[in-house]
Amino acid sequence: MPTPHDRVLVVDFGAQYAQLIARRVREARVYSEIVSRTMPLAEMLAKRPKGIIFSGGPASVHVDGAPSIDPAVYDADVPILGICYGAQLVAQQLGGTVERTGGGEYGRTTTNTTTTFVHGGRRPVLLADAPDELQVWMSHGDAITRVPEEFDVVRSSAGSPVALFEDKQRAVFGAQFHPEVVHTELGQELLRDFLFKVCDCRPTWTNTNIIEEAVDEIRAQVGSEGVICGLSGGVDSAVAAALVHRAIGDQLTCVFVDTGLLRLGEAEQVEETFNRQFHVELIHVKAADRFLGALVDVEDPERKRKIIGETFIRVFEEVARDLSSAGFLVQGTLYPDIVESGGGDNAVIKSHHNVGGLPDDMDFELVEPLRNLFKDEVRAIGEELGLPEDIVWRQPFPGPGLAVRIIGAITPERLELLRAADHIVVEEIRRAGLYREIWQSFAVLPAAVRTVGVMGDGRTYENPVIVRAVTSEDAMTADWARLPYDLLERIASRIINEVAGVNRVAYDITSKPPGTIEWE
Ligand code: XMP
Repeated sequence: MPTPHDRVLVVDFGAQYAQLIARRVREARVYSEIVSRTMPLAEMLAKRPKGIIFSGGPASVHVDGAPSIDPAVYDADVPILGICYGAQLVAQQLGGTVERTGGGEYGRTTTNTTTTFVHGGRRPVLLADAPDELQVWMSHGDAITRVPEEFDVVRSSAGSPVALFEDKQRAVFGAQFHPEVVHTELGQELLRDFLFKVCDCRPTWTNTNIIEEAVDEIRAQVGSEGVICGLSGGVDSAVAAALVHRAIGDQLTCVFVDTGLLRLGEAEQVEETFNRQFHVELIHVKAADRFLGALVDVEDPERKRKIIGETFIRVFEEVARDLSSAGFLVQGTLYPDIVESGGGDNAVIKSHHNVGGLPDDMDFELVEPLRNLFKDEVRAIGEELGLPEDIVWRQPFPGPGLAVRIIGAITPERLELLRAADHIVVEEIRRAGLYREIWQSFAVLPAAVRTVGVMGDGRTYENPVIVRAVTSEDAMTADWARLPYDLLERIASRIINEVAGVNRVAYDITSKPPGTIEWE
């Protein structure tokens, strides 16, 4: 169906960044669509794109079977921007040179404009007004050492003689660095220049369009069948439920499962907010015994996740059976959940309970209207759908709950201790006015560890609690939050004074990477 919106294709060469590029294009309010590199060129062109972006990818253009694209694309009269691997592919296909120079660049890298071109007095098309020196994010082993004829080199770095290049006539561009990554200065500017100055796109794509598109897709997928939605109290499942409700109304039944792994007062709070906000049936399943029973003596994080993922599904299946319909299950899965669970060409970091933790033999077809989106986009959509602030701006909480914050086996006593400590962390962060600014803040219990202390002139030998607070844009990367010392002190002394069994508090200062946000 032709869309009234200008469309840009992102050709996926196997990078987890393809979605990030698509997201940056959406941020510029242009409709973007990710297509596989194996899609025939005629099919790509039939979509009438105003521009085509080649994503990065893990391969080297030199290996046998390296992902490629029909070179006729360069004669299709559609502007092209190659990024990282995509740029190398452009260079190679049009007759330039890509070499393994032995000097790869990873992370923050300085680029400068070139003397021949920019200092020679010419103005580039992309980043025309950028300063001479620009910090960008690189991640490559091979480098482009010579551009094809007719191309100009606009920027270079120590390890990339060709960091940004262009053929103005043909409207073909390449960036060795990643403009889509936040650490690249003026990265979004570069993309905007491509979209608006080169492709002449109109910025018409909004969250309302995203909602309309999702609603159409949901209707097409489920028809007149019954659908159930697992609601966790977090923003993702709430937005997913609201979208599905908008699409199919009463065909939706929401299910809230109390796993026994929730935070203090959470079950009551979710039910209360839900009843206030949604006018849909809510089934509250109290399944703490079942989850905790299945987790007795389980210490391995991946086993915990798989058991929890499976138990959720079994509970949903039973509810669906009782409703004697419902072949569909709505989940608020986001794009980062899929990446970490090893989606596409990516390595498994951890099996998110709702992706890699799902059993093979489940009775449902999944409905995941948010699977290509990032958390901040989901929040914006939640606001647009009129969800209340306390849902939209809730800090994320993982489906496996406190199970992945108790390091070691889960017992009711450990859960109780962690709940009390966690409550203090969040309460103090809220009091300090930092709740929104901080991506997640919580407590972790390394249950097997005991430490010696002295309280009231006596020796103690009790548990430490670890406080974790991170800032992040999308959970793909995160930094530890620089909390004020007096706030940390308040949290620590309250936990030790108020939570029986804790005699020490530590603060986690690990970023992601190399750590992850959760401890398990
Ligand atoms: P990590 O620990 O991988 O977490 O840095 C990234 C984000 O995902 C959340 N998370 C999960 N959410 N099911 C979920 O619904 C899961 O199994 C899961 N594991 C981690 C985590 O809280 C953080 O926001």
